Amino acid sequence: MVNDNGVLFTIFGGTGHLTYNKLMPAFYQLFLEERLDSIAIVAIGRRDKDNSKYRDEIIATIKKKSKTYDQVAIELFAKKLYYYKMDFNQGEAYKELGIYLDSLDQQVAAGGNRIFYLATAPNDFPTISELLKRNGLLNSSGYIRAAFEKPFGYDLTSAKAINQRIADVFGEDHIYRIDHYLGKEMIQNIFMIRFTNEIFKAVWNHQSIDNIQITVQESVGVEERGGYYDQSGALRDMLQNHLLQILALIGMEPPQVLNTQTIRDEKVKVLKSVRLMPEKDGQSNIVLGQYQGYTSESKVNPESTTETFVALKCSIDTLRWKGVPIYLKTGKKLRSREASIIIEFKNDVCCPAFEASAKPNLLIIKIQPEEGVYFRINTKKPRSENVLMPVSMDYCQSCNIYYRSPEAYERLLYDIIQGDSTLFTRWDEVESSWIMIDYLLSSSNYEKNSVVLYEENTNGPIEADNLLIKEGRHWWYLEDIESRWDTPNGFGEVDKT
Ligand code: BG6
Repeated sequence: MVNDNGVLFTIFGGTGHLTYNKLMPAFYQLFLEERLDSIAIVAIGRRDKDNSKYRDEIIATIKKKSKTYDQVAIELFAKKLYYYKMDFNQGEAYKELGIYLDSLDQQVAAGGNRIFYLATAPNDFPTISELLKRNGLLNSSGYIRAAFEKPFGYDLTSAKAINQRIADVFGEDHIYRIDHYLGKEMIQNIFMIRFTNEIFKAVWNHQSIDNIQITVQESVGVEERGGYYDQSGALRDMLQNHLLQILALIGMEPPQVLNTQTIRDEKVKVLKSVRLMPEKDGQSNIVLGQYQGYTSESKVNPESTTETFVALKCSIDTLRWKGVPIYLKTGKKLRSREASIIIEFKNDVCCPAFEASAKPNLLIIKIQPEEGVYFRINTKKPRSENVLMPVSMDYCQSCNIYYRSPEAYERLLYDIIQGDSTLFTRWDEVESSWIMIDYLLSSSNYEKNSVVLYEENTNGPIEADNLLIKEGRHWWYLEDIESRWDTPNGFGEVDKT
């Protein structure tokens, strides 16, 4: 009988930045909340160290990062960590790893359950998977699951090649492709907000919505990841996965039943229906930018034209979304760290008397740094006759002092252990996203949109503003949204009374 409570969780890339800074703190939190049963976490790395050194390093990292650090708890947690030195490209090393895992399995009563987490470069996914299989490491008596970090490939061709080989080893049902945005609280909340509120269900369509803006901007640059990033750029690093996944959740039809397959089926339909808006009057609908100083970053080619910013207009070719422009934007070294989904409703007011002062309703799903929901409506301005005043209902989930927002990886690691793959991307989702990115990267599109430089600590290139201004719209920024309609710059008169 399969014992579902225990597991050996083996991480390839056990000394990498992601493991230290994201996976281990998330495991520690799950441990604190008593959500980890019999588990041994085996970190595989090439470097020379033993369990004790590795545990000390992890304790030091968690001490620095975690608000819930507790000396007694961390020491108990650290006992679950094991370091295993190995070069994962060496086929002969796997037999010994198998023997090691079998003996550990006995010690921690893992019941033969194995999870392999590949936090490595995507090119290593097939090799590691095949060597695990060839050396009998997938023949244990329990369940076998495999998780793959992003990026999943470099383009459609490489993603397909990787996928074919890993699917041959594990089978789609046992594969967990990570997109950590799906583990974020407010991304999961999209579902609840959309499908459980009658007022939104009824207006979630082209009749009522003027445009949608999905923004994920960062204030940091490429930091120590210049080598990887320079080969990737914002299109591959952020748009192909995080932004398109958000788009799929915003645009999907309500699933008939709430299960993994149906939700994924609906998401795929959206991803297959995304259309990039054709160029109009010689003006392109995509803007690529690079922050000044990027080419001096460590491990970045001094001649690099890699984009660190992208803004584009697209649409979803379905009856629901007919003609609704959807603007996607992401970039590094921008004015602030902010991720949000902004639904701007149409501003068709009933009567001329209100035309001047009516403002569009806005629904904003605030993903980070603040988590919450913002909704703006028009009300009568006190003491006026027909003048309207926008007021907002602003729910800040993360402002609650008793609330600790779980890190995305806490949810994702927990779900892998539970065998729930809803918050992971299925191959056809990844495939559809790459088709779109390949199209954007194809020379005619990419070169036409030569990368423009932008100053750091700004909103990115001015061309991105023009993308909307030429259509009589503008980007909404959470930071200044409240002040915006009360300034004399086209959004309303300053009220000095
Ligand atoms: C990663 C990208 O997937 O997401 C990084 O590779 C980016 O470049 C990061 O910085 C942003 O994640 P978060 O959770 O900090 O918004």
